[in-house]
Amino acid sequence: MRSPRSLLGGLLAVLCLAGPISARAAEEHIPLPNEHWSFESALGGFDLASAQRGFQVYSQVCANCHSMKFLHYRDLSGIGLNAEQIKAVAATFTVPLGLNDEGQPVEGPALPSSRFRSPFPNDKAATAANNGALPPDLSLIVNAREGGPNYVFGVLTGYGNPPAGVAVAEGTYYNRVFPGHQIKMPQPLQDGTVTYTDGTPNTLNQQARDVVTFLYWAANPEMVERKAMGVKAVLFLVFMTGLTYVVKKKVWADAH
Ligand code: HEC
Repeated sequence: MRSPRSLLGGLLAVLCLAGPISARAAEEHIPLPNEHWSFESALGGFDLASAQRGFQVYSQVCANCHSMKFLHYRDLSGIGLNAEQIKAVAATFTVPLGLNDEGQPVEGPALPSSRFRSPFPNDKAATAANNGALPPDLSLIVNAREGGPNYVFGVLTGYGNPPAGVAVAEGTYYNRVFPGHQIKMPQPLQDGTVTYTDGTPNTLNQQARDVVTFLYWAANPEMVERKAMGVKAVLFLVFMTGLTYVVKKKVWADAH
């Protein structure tokens, strides 16, 4: 006979296990695109040209609604911009620069040390301007969503007409990949939305790939170092294994 205590424990364990599973089962399984990404292989780095084009897409399109609060312009050195380029890029954005001598807020060209310009002064204003939906900050979005880069790519390329019989509420748009299939973000990218300075064809897929590469870098700026560290750790272990083997041979050779 089980004690009431262990019964309670068992019940709790069942509840804990069942909770997340039933919540997940309630969601529809939506297949995601399965793109090949430069940054996904064990040793792969970022396609820097793609990340730079992605910054252009973010700046010209997404930044009208989405902030990236964790980034400073100087961080762009991580996608290959030099100090001069960063200074020039930052200066094209107008950001708050604190208070003047009269205590009034002043704005001016951003410095390399400035945070990325936010399109709205606060979440309430952002929500009000977007049909009641808050455009989430994109600094960490790739890590925050299941499916990561493929999910964000899927949302950007998943617009289309709803299947027959599916009604889409006013102010929302049909999207194959967004949970519930109704999103309040109007389709941000189409073929030709951004004109690339490096002559890359600006198809919808290319622009979506580029901005996802940029967003992945933004959320994982230390990835390249992490992989390099992994390689060093493996080399070190191989070296130590060899050394141990040699020492063992030597020690046991003497013992005979
Ligand atoms: C006109 C404003 C606007 C623009 C431009 C825009 N977005 Fe959005 N975005 C939104 C809003 C509003 C939401 C919230 C949608 C919702 O909750 O229904 C959103 C949501 C998202 C989401 C989150 C989906 C989720 O799982 O919560 C991602 C990712 C996203 N946007 C990426 C982008 C990218 C990348 C760009 C640029 C290519 C972009 N957006 C351009 C308004 C915008």
